Amino acid sequence: MAQSNRGKPQLPNNSQDWMDLDVPSRLPIIPLVSSVLFPGGVLSLQVGIDRNVRLLKSLPDDQNLIAAFCQKTGDKENPRAEDLSQIGVLAAIVQRLPLSSDRYQLFLQGRQRVELVQMLQNEPYFEAQLREVAPRPIPKGVKTDSLMNKAMTLFEKLVESDSKYSNELLNILRMNVSEGPDTFADLLSSFVNFPLEEKQLLLETVNPIERIELLIDWINRDLGRATVDRELQRQIQTSIDRRDRENYLREQLRIIQDELGETNAAEREADTYRDRIETLPIIEDHKTTLRREVTRMGQLSQSSSDYAVLKGHLDTVLQVPWTQHTEDRLDLQKAEEILDARHHGLDKVKERVLEFLAVLKLKGDLKGPILCFTGPPGVGKTSLGAAIADALGRKFVRMAVGGVTDESEIRGHRKTYIGAMPGKLISSYMQIGVNNPLIMIDEIDKIGKDFRGDPSSALLEVLDPKQNHAFVDRYLEIPFDLSHTLFICTANVLDMIPSPLRDRMEVIRLSGYTENEKLAIAVKHLIPELLENHGLTADQVKIDEDAILLIIRDYTAEAGVRNLERNLATVLRKIARKVASGDEETKTYEVKTDDIEAYLGLVKFEHEFAERHPEIGVSTGLAWTQFGGEIMFIEATRMPGTGRTTVTGQLGDVMRESVQAAYSYVRSKAHEIDIPEKKFSEHDIHIHFPAGAIPKDGPSAGVAIATCIASVMGERPVRHDIAMTGEITLRGKVLSVGGIKEKVMAAHRANIKTVLLPEGNRKDISEVPEETKAALKFVFVQRVEDVWKEALIPLYIIKDHDRKYDEREYRAEQREKTDRATERAEGR
Ligand SMILES: Nc1ncnc2c1ncn2[C@@H]1O[C@H](COP(=O)(O)OP(=O)(O)O)[C@@H](O)[C@H]1O
Ligand SMILES: [Mg+2]
Repeated sequence: MAQSNRGKPQLPNNSQDWMDLDVPSRLPIIPLVSSVLFPGGVLSLQVGIDRNVRLLKSLPDDQNLIAAFCQKTGDKENPRAEDLSQIGVLAAIVQRLPLSSDRYQLFLQGRQRVELVQMLQNEPYFEAQLREVAPRPIPKGVKTDSLMNKAMTLFEKLVESDSKYSNELLNILRMNVSEGPDTFADLLSSFVNFPLEEKQLLLETVNPIERIELLIDWINRDLGRATVDRELQRQIQTSIDRRDRENYLREQLRIIQDELGETNAAEREADTYRDRIETLPIIEDHKTTLRREVTRMGQLSQSSSDYAVLKGHLDTVLQVPWTQHTEDRLDLQKAEEILDARHHGLDKVKERVLEFLAVLKLKGDLKGPILCFTGPPGVGKTSLGAAIADALGRKFVRMAVGGVTDESEIRGHRKTYIGAMPGKLISSYMQIGVNNPLIMIDEIDKIGKDFRGDPSSALLEVLDPKQNHAFVDRYLEIPFDLSHTLFICTANVLDMIPSPLRDRMEVIRLSGYTENEKLAIAVKHLIPELLENHGLTADQVKIDEDAILLIIRDYTAEAGVRNLERNLATVLRKIARKVASGDEETKTYEVKTDDIEAYLGLVKFEHEFAERHPEIGVSTGLAWTQFGGEIMFIEATRMPGTGRTTVTGQLGDVMRESVQAAYSYVRSKAHEIDIPEKKFSEHDIHIHFPAGAIPKDGPSAGVAIATCIASVMGERPVRHDIAMTGEITLRGKVLSVGGIKEKVMAAHRANIKTVLLPEGNRKDISEVPEETKAALKFVFVQRVEDVWKEALIPLYIIKDHDRKYDEREYRAEQREKTDRATERAEGR
């Protein structure tokens, strides 16, 4: 107390006098670490640092001036001279009150800016020579006034919006406006709650106009922050208030409506959703959205379309199997039994599937590659998937993506879209009702792409174990976890699968069945199943094996068993009808070869082989398409011309080039096979690839094309029971090609007796089933000439099936056949 009494009387009352005070030549310095003192401002601080306590203790009683300098860097306890800022304030010690032996309460009043000229002493406290920083004279112009006004207004707003500022500050500031910009700016600077560096910068900004401008900037900034803070605060508050309020009002409304007996039907229905939403295992944000939907629904008329949209969406969300699942039971022994029971043959495929399942079992999660079954239609890809699901004890659902070109079909349309629905994927889950089914993505190679987006990118996400734990359907809008699902894909051909998808897959090939396998499948699987579907028993219907073989040979031409199944179904349907309309229920229907025509009509594929004979200008090639292997006829005719070639039929560029290469080679070898060069120069040749709209491409028809050209130019028939495949080079070498197994099986189906293959494909024969191999003769060729030796029949003497042919006889026979065909066609 003594100090404060002592200090005060020595202070002149008029502050103006203070401004005129000369700066003493030598003054002690007190470093400030947590605040900045401005001229005109006051600062109350507790002094506890040793150095400073020492300073205050040693200060003579009548010493009432000190310099306060901000300490910018360094150690608080032990600052160095260079840690102090250059500009400080000359301060009056208003009060110096010892709180304890090592603690003072200090009350300072800022007087004027001073600059540190030279440090005179560092210990035991700082003492320095200082110089006055002269206040710049400022013309009291318009700019100054408006700046001060602006700063004043902004500060008023700040005080209003931020509770840390008291209104008292405003009053003090207003009272001091007349003191001019310098005093005003310093006062304001000492009032604002800015970071220390900013305040120091204000102190160092000697020009008052600049200081005010800085203040305006920074107050503006703080105002922005204050507004955001307040807005947030308000929003939180009102959203809580509103929910309480809404609940309360709704409750009241219901009571009133109940009293009046006029409860709103929509409101009542909406209410039924409320509790169900709360039980969903989804995050709060999504629940909030759903709650809002329910509320809106309750306010709408039940007949409005908006109501239907909201209800539809809520129903969908509730129907999605968020948590429902089945328990896996993976017993490999059992799995093998199930696979064996459901599918005949396919030993290698089953083995790989079992290996895959074994890995699944060991790893315990599904983050592996995706299985993909490829092969022609009807070889059991889809049904194999269903069998795997059974073996695992999972539910099976098939998702067909063939022909899908729109990403929304997979990912769904937004709710706002008219008639919006979830995409195929989420629909599959809703259909099956569990979140861990086996989903078969069928015909993934037939997926398209157009301007509405690329569906394969959606599938990519679905099949990616890193991404698929939160798949967002656009309609559902809530992430759904796909990672418990086992995905299996199927495809006819691998090439057509977008490569990023293919990279994720482990491919298992199924290539097709032999006649005997088909027979066994029909007897053991197809017929029993079809009988049951048609409500018939094995006692009522007996289908001869020969009859089945007849169907296989003459009514189908396929790698799989799809058409076989269809034809058998037709037979059984007709029998079922007889049984249903007949009286003798106990009668047994026997189906023999002779009956087949009555059930299935005329033979469908006979013309392709049974009626064939050696012909000039027709060779038989072997192609590999998505339907498996196929035989392919190549036709050529010759007409007077100038040596041009024309090519027609469904074929790609590579194949067109093969035609040119083959033509050139045959022409270059003309003399060796007794064709006069003139024949080439005086004729045009037209080559046609008939049959089927399936585009053919690839170089593997080379030998067949060359043979066809040699045939038509050399006028030699080509043996009709020989089929061939192989690429040729310009110099007549035959190169190996792909798809041998499928091609050979197709040749066998088509009743071909001899197959000509490139020498380089000899090793591939081991893949061909024994049964097929035994029925065929294989000739391996290295050059086109080898092919010709086998396939071209020398003019006049043609050997076929041990019977001598005569060209004239042969032509006459042909004519006769043509006549018969014409008669048949005219219905005679
Ligand atoms: N190896 C087989 N054993 C038993 N049935 C088979 C076999 N292969 C195919 N099937 C049957 O043939 C029909 C067509 O098979 P599917 O799985 O649809 O072929 P994909 O999907 O390859 O086109 C199904 O009824 C299936 O059960
Ligand atoms: Mg299928």
